[in-house]
Amino acid sequence: MIKIDFTNVMSDFIGEKHGILFEEIEAYKEIVKEVHEKIKEERDNSFYFTKLPYQHTEEIKKLAIEIRENFDYFVVIGIGGSALGNQMIQEAINGFNYNNFNYPKFYIMDNVDPEKIGNILDLIDIRKTMFNVITKSGSTVETIANFAIVLTTLKDELGEDYKDHLIFTTDPEKGFLRKFGEREGIKMLDIPPKVGGRFSVLSNVGLLSSAVCGIDIDLLLEGARKADELCMKISNPLENPAYLIGLIHYLACERKGKHISVMMPYFERLSSFVDWYRQLWAESLGKEGFGQTPLKSIGTIDQHSQIQLFRESPKDKIITFLRVLESSRDYKIPKDIPEEIGYLANHSLKEILDIELEGTIAALIKSQVPNLTITIDRLNHYNLGMLIYIYELATGFTGMLYKINPFDQPAVEEGKDFAYGLMGRKGYEKKLEEYRELVKEKYTLEIND
Ligand code: PA5
Repeated sequence: MIKIDFTNVMSDFIGEKHGILFEEIEAYKEIVKEVHEKIKEERDNSFYFTKLPYQHTEEIKKLAIEIRENFDYFVVIGIGGSALGNQMIQEAINGFNYNNFNYPKFYIMDNVDPEKIGNILDLIDIRKTMFNVITKSGSTVETIANFAIVLTTLKDELGEDYKDHLIFTTDPEKGFLRKFGEREGIKMLDIPPKVGGRFSVLSNVGLLSSAVCGIDIDLLLEGARKADELCMKISNPLENPAYLIGLIHYLACERKGKHISVMMPYFERLSSFVDWYRQLWAESLGKEGFGQTPLKSIGTIDQHSQIQLFRESPKDKIITFLRVLESSRDYKIPKDIPEEIGYLANHSLKEILDIELEGTIAALIKSQVPNLTITIDRLNHYNLGMLIYIYELATGFTGMLYKINPFDQPAVEEGKDFAYGLMGRKGYEKKLEEYRELVKEKYTLEIND
């Protein structure tokens, strides 16, 4: 069960200045219907991610079993859309102690921070490690750099056997990694060409590491399929969860100046879900002067950090709370506690977590801060699959409302090009010149010992 309660974004609860009118939603119904038709037409192209829930999983499950039987460690080398979803699924399903289970221990090498990479290399036994290099483009600097370090280490340790410790997940035709893999005879999995990085978690990108670590990928896809069946049938935004989330955020941003979208789970296993959402929302919609800044907040921790700001700062935020009804464990506070803290007696930690959320919601209503609550009965494979799909479709849909392309990221490329220039890559000499024109160190303050 997934329920979206959007009462507190509506004008009758938080006032017309900050809240959305039902008439505003009504006025968009025709536009949403047109967008809905376009999305359906695009299912074999730009919205191909909506078809991922229907893929066959036999090959990936077989591979996962082989890996589980032969390796003690599974390391993903990838970044952005080629890593965030993998981490999100692990944490959401297996919890923070995922490396204490009887599956290969799971690590991600994303950043090129040498200390982080070194720490992972310290933890693993390279002879017992399978590395899954994931990159759609096949050429992302961080991924290729980390891969190059691992490759050298593997070759030094294992000679020709190094190949048995690598799986590449990449575009079926393009990119350095595909060519290298073909040349060296390395096991490779495809990323569907029409699925971009941040929409790829339900492809081989996210499914292999999940299956290796014991996650039921069929149930995950079943949940996504259920969401797809519903969302492709109904265009009414009041009945379609993805369109409801998208339209509310669009109207809140465009009509009420809510340029920041806070996502605040009151269930920490969803912490990495927010990291995944941040990339999806920011990179897809932040273009051509449009977009909403996604902001991470964790309940209750950030009640003691950000809620002051959410209530009293400029009213530029819309908040989405994520709530999970069932907790796999709970602790009850005993009856015989000191009188001064007696109000806690007999409450469980989960109850307190939920009560704190309710208190926060009431405080935000009082400050007229629009907020919606997504409630999930339990955080299992099926519901997670649904939630992933709903947010992916909400993102693609919102991009269509803004009339922008939610599937590209032109502004990311420029920074990469400057980096190539600085690294001396052939063909990027002009970028290096441009960099030198742009970046100067003129005003500084330095404190020395
Ligand atoms: O969503 C995207 O396309 C990007 O954020 C990518 O996921 C990220 O840049 C990594 O790219 P690649 O998978 O090509 O290495």
